[in-house]
Amino acid sequence: MNRCVVGLQWGDEGKGKVIDILAEHSDIVVRYSGGANAGHTVIVGNDRFALHLLPSGSIRPGTICVIANGVVLDPYVLIDGIEKLGEKDISLDGRLFISENVHVVLDYHKKEDKLREESLGKNKLGTTIRGIGPCYADKVGRSYAVRMADLKDLKKLKAKLQAIVEYKNKVFGAVYGAEPMNADEIFEKCKSYAERLLPFIADTTEYLHRAIANGKSILFEGAQGSLLDLDHGTFPFVTSSNSSSLGMPAGSGVPAKHVDKFIGIVKAYTTRVGAGPFPTEQDNETGQYIRDKGNEYGTTTGRPRRCGWFDALAVSYAVTIGAIDSVAMMHLDTLAGLKELKICRAYKINGTEKTFFPANTERLSQASAVYETVPGWDEEITGVTDFHDLPTNAQNYVCRIEELISKPITIIGVGPKRNQTIFR
Ligand code: GDP
Ligand code: IMO
Ligand code: MG
Repeated sequence: MNRCVVGLQWGDEGKGKVIDILAEHSDIVVRYSGGANAGHTVIVGNDRFALHLLPSGSIRPGTICVIANGVVLDPYVLIDGIEKLGEKDISLDGRLFISENVHVVLDYHKKEDKLREESLGKNKLGTTIRGIGPCYADKVGRSYAVRMADLKDLKKLKAKLQAIVEYKNKVFGAVYGAEPMNADEIFEKCKSYAERLLPFIADTTEYLHRAIANGKSILFEGAQGSLLDLDHGTFPFVTSSNSSSLGMPAGSGVPAKHVDKFIGIVKAYTTRVGAGPFPTEQDNETGQYIRDKGNEYGTTTGRPRRCGWFDALAVSYAVTIGAIDSVAMMHLDTLAGLKELKICRAYKINGTEKTFFPANTERLSQASAVYETVPGWDEEITGVTDFHDLPTNAQNYVCRIEELISKPITIIGVGPKRNQTIFR
């Protein structure tokens, strides 16, 4: 059984927790897009892991982890992640495979991300400054790209980096008045990355197809969320990869027809970090209540997340483009204590009711949410393990959203821990 898990909102839906749970019954977990902009939280016992590049299956010692071609990889962050797991006696040796085609995020990518965001002032995108956009831009541009395979031939890499850094210095100097970078310093870092990471580099496409032929069970781990998808999200306030399930085949080399089930993750409300339209945002007491109760601060950047009501129109769109079969709804517990809950079922744009999400920033900015209001519940539900033991209003809330998005909600999160999960 092969499954793919993707976020259906603007990221941070709780993918890490769900993937960690599903990984128990998977042989291989594959990251296929994004980079260290992702922050996937997994809590096991008293340990909290924030994973940026390692697949969320890495916590389970028997699980094979693959970082496939679609990822952009910051070696510094990856090595740090491997070492942090090592401190907990969790080793990746022999069970981590990194595609030789993965593009490498280097200092000049992070520098460009920062310089550009700073220069944009109030028009900035609010990126994570992890060098994601600049690295994908070099991938598409080809001439100045560095891939994991390049770490195998250091002599060639040295010459390549000289040319790249010379070019970047000219551009950054001219555009931003930036201080020049030193190619030798970047090369020395690459040398140490090579030493540490070469044993993990592999042809992951071949590996995954052999695994499929041998009947192994694969779990594809989406990063970010469908509404941040470069092509299908709220451009330009998106990330630089196809973060909906549409990115999975290209990002892994495995056709979507090999996936038996696409599982979408949502929060029981909506959050967003960074700039961009957000029709159900509650920049008020309600939003603050959710932020405090749900601890809505970024796993990667620590930024407070913008919070708002559940947007069934946006999620339905993500379900449609993602061919989603079933949904996991996390953070139901966070809504406890709110007298009334609102669910957005349509938008009004220029006086007309829209029932298909417009992934167009201009139109979306003009949209006002059309809500249904339902009663909330007061009881804390963090200890509930059976759906029928939830307060009736909580059950009704889940069932109404199921109707609106036309997909079954089969997993419900009532807390951050593994066992705070209801299966239906
Ligand atoms: P991801 O990027 O989709 O993996 O999500 P993040 O890890 O960035 O953010 C989700 C946060 O919510 C993490 O701190 C999780 O520990 C936490 N979390 C996940 N599921 C639940 C849940 O059902 N209830 C609560 N209260 N917290 C949850
Ligand atoms: P996970 O996998 C939430 C957002 C950034 C910014 C935009 C572009 O943890 O759900 P980038 O650095 O990618 O160029 O930033 O995308 N963003 C995320 N928001 N969760 C994420 O990942 C995100 N990854 C990127 O905040 O708005
Ligand atoms: Mg996250």
